[in-house]
Amino acid sequence: MDRLRIYGGKPLEGEVNISGAKNAALPELCATLLSAEPLLLHNRPHLNDVRTMETLLSQMGVVIEHSNGSVTLRAQEIDWPLAPYELVKTMRASILALGPLLARCGEARVSMPGGCAIGLRPIDQHIKGLTAMGAEINLEHGYISAKARKLKGAHFTFDMPSVTGTENLMMAATLAEGVTVLERAAREPEIVDLALCLTAMGAKIRGAGTSRVEIEGVAALHGAEHRVMPDRIESGTFLVAAAATHGHVVLRDADPSLLKTVLDLLRQIGVTVDAGNDTIALRGNGHFQSFHITTAPYPGFPTDMQAQMMALATCADGVSTLTETIFESRMMHVQELKRLGADIKVEGNTAHVNGVKQLSGANVMATDLRASASLVIAGLMADGETVIDRIYHLDRGYEAIEKKLSKLGARIERISA
Ligand code: EPU
Repeated sequence: MDRLRIYGGKPLEGEVNISGAKNAALPELCATLLSAEPLLLHNRPHLNDVRTMETLLSQMGVVIEHSNGSVTLRAQEIDWPLAPYELVKTMRASILALGPLLARCGEARVSMPGGCAIGLRPIDQHIKGLTAMGAEINLEHGYISAKARKLKGAHFTFDMPSVTGTENLMMAATLAEGVTVLERAAREPEIVDLALCLTAMGAKIRGAGTSRVEIEGVAALHGAEHRVMPDRIESGTFLVAAAATHGHVVLRDADPSLLKTVLDLLRQIGVTVDAGNDTIALRGNGHFQSFHITTAPYPGFPTDMQAQMMALATCADGVSTLTETIFESRMMHVQELKRLGADIKVEGNTAHVNGVKQLSGANVMATDLRASASLVIAGLMADGETVIDRIYHLDRGYEAIEKKLSKLGARIERISA
């Protein structure tokens, strides 16, 4: 397994290009299952999760071609509407194939994703929603087996906003008979981007990005071209790394409008943030204030930025609190940050972080994607050498992170197994 070695203490300086969003690309790749005609996606991020999703789709019969950061997918025939355990266990987002397969083929078998490091993450909302649309669903031998000769439009209210749940049902509803209304839907920008992609394919969707999404089913979707939105979490991660190292970094190809809560907080703690149309510049001021965040569904503070903010809090002036409300075990980075000298106490779902003067490099272990990002940031802040083990988590969701950070002057290298 590869590791990352970081010699910390150097401010990040320079410009970095932001990649396409993992969590928009994954459902958009699955959207290709809804049409026999080709879907051309630009700004495809080079990530292991994207490669896994493409492997999954090609096993189903989708023909895939890459060129210059774009990908063309053609699902002319789907010979095998199955998402096997071997792939699903490495990437929960494989559940996003369920809705489109069912809508297009009338049947699907997708392995149950099971729990993961950040929590139990049930998929009951996906199943309840598809059942409301007339699917017959059985859970057997670790698989979700779904059948529906023709899905029917339905009025479905989520028990809680679910991002992939909303995406799965929205995709399924594009080919259902009649109108589907999704209430208490998630409002994340990735859902809006997926809706734009589906609309380009001929779908009729209103209200994506609000808690009520209305989809009028059509007989078939057609080929289309779509550009994957910029990754707001990668953007936030680089901004926090720049603030944490008192650096000066400019993000290119970013979208500041998607990061309001994060940018507001960074300004509030005392760093300078200037947002342009597709750029964000951050300049550190030598120190930063403590802060308080509570994660919440969009437009609240993103859970996918909690771990990175905790790394920042370890050296803030004063005591910060970070409360995680979305996932029950998303504090795995606490123990590792403590190995680097952080002063953190966890009470229930709240971490109290007492800022220290300096972290000190150590060997640590990555436990999930965003926890890994927080350890990279902490390694950049720490004195001396930090070695991060199990960075395959990082490769799932950050494109060439060590190359991008090196370009900003970080002393970071990959140690290949
Ligand atoms: N939930 C249920 N039942 C369901 C679905 C969700 O109880 O059927 C619960 C979850 O356990 C959680 C809450 O609802 O407590 C929200 O979960 P959600 O379904 O919104 O999460 P997700 O769709 O599985 C996506 C992102 C995650 C991100 C969350 C929250 C993708 C592929 N994944 O997951 O991204 O943390 O939304 O914003 O879009 C990451 O990129 O690191 C990542 C984990």
